[in-house]
Amino acid sequence: MLNFELYNPVNYIFGKGQTEKLTNLVPKDAKILVAYGGGSIFKNGVYNQVTTALKDFDLIEFGGIEPNPRFETLIKAVQIIREQKITFILAVGGGSVIDGVKFISAAVNFEGDATEILKKRILFTDVTKVIPFGTVLTLPATGSEMNSGAVVTIGATQEKLTLGGSALFPKFSIVDPTVIVSLPKRQLQNGVIDAFTHVMEQYMTYKHDALLQDRLAESILQTLIEVGPSVVENPSDYKLASNFVWSATMALNGLIQKGVPSDWATHMIGHELTALYEIDHARTLAIIGPNLYRVLFETKKEKLAQYGQRVWKLTGDSTDVIARQAIEKTVEFFHTMGMKTKLSENTENYKETADFIVNRFEERGWLALGEKQNITLEKVREIVEMSY
Ligand code: NZQ
Ligand code: ZN
Repeated sequence: MLNFELYNPVNYIFGKGQTEKLTNLVPKDAKILVAYGGGSIFKNGVYNQVTTALKDFDLIEFGGIEPNPRFETLIKAVQIIREQKITFILAVGGGSVIDGVKFISAAVNFEGDATEILKKRILFTDVTKVIPFGTVLTLPATGSEMNSGAVVTIGATQEKLTLGGSALFPKFSIVDPTVIVSLPKRQLQNGVIDAFTHVMEQYMTYKHDALLQDRLAESILQTLIEVGPSVVENPSDYKLASNFVWSATMALNGLIQKGVPSDWATHMIGHELTALYEIDHARTLAIIGPNLYRVLFETKKEKLAQYGQRVWKLTGDSTDVIARQAIEKTVEFFHTMGMKTKLSENTENYKETADFIVNRFEERGWLALGEKQNITLEKVREIVEMSY
């Protein structure tokens, strides 16, 4: 097992009716910016729950954080916080709103051009330099409610880039599984596949000695396979909803990645597809992931076979056979979950995509990705072209 440090200060508050606790979670005398997205919180009652719980606080609202949040939108909130002397931010929404708030929190005291936070991947480790924030999660998928990472798009250059650092964990996150009832089916499907792929990125590498992490990863995958197809049909079933939501958090709260190699290349390539074509984040992962396993078959086949045997209960004559079947099982599952796994099924203008992505990665110096740093630009091209 590799050495690791486990640090996660998020006060994670799970279950029905927990939003009431907001009153005692935000700091006394806080001046709060309540940040939200396109307005779903007004229709599903979450806005009322939040404002009722915070009725004695000084609130300023900032709406309009879009899916795949834009730098250009977030920077307006940064200005408001500076002018209004806001001391706490509450993100009410899905991954986009929470990620947006992480960026806002970091940018308020950042001197200079705030796009550099993204372009230079500046790490935020000093809690005194950021604005503290909490979250009320409305969409299980990203794990952003319990991690310190975020993804923000610079609209002007169509770049989807990451930021993070230990200062950017939420102070608390309220996670009430009943909020998923109002989610469109497409977003429920996305949530399951995003969480599934998060586990795969930290698991589908090579065989190693971290036995517990493997079992934890496999158990999350198995839970998502068990509840995923039913929860999208029946999100008001609390057993299904609560297991889905907790699995999505566990998939990316840092625990399963401790002491193990990881490979975030599916996400890195997928982010480009969203930046270029606005394809939903999870759907880009369903397009790229299986082809990445195919192209990197020799590197990953031992682990693919373990996954096939343990998660899909496959039996077969050889590692190669089980590993190949495991990839096909994954694609089948993605189809069951409503994913279209070819790029051409998601956008019409895809023919230049591989060139574009390879050039971009080259410009950024991303010449070798993956747990063995053997996903070269040529391999990236092969994966993307195979995905057409
Ligand atoms: O904006 P509103 O009106 O709230 O509507 C949203 C949005 O249209 C809607 N929605 C959310 N909760 C709802 C709801 N509609 C009805 N009922 C509810 N309870 O769903 C739509 C999508 O929301 P969004 O927040 O964009 O989805 P998601 O949570 O999947 O977040 C995706 C973003 O997170 C990033 C992605 O790249 C993408 O930008 N990621 C963040 C990660 C992290 N911080 O660790 C990791 C992930 O890999 C991912 O990259
Ligand atoms: Zn993701």
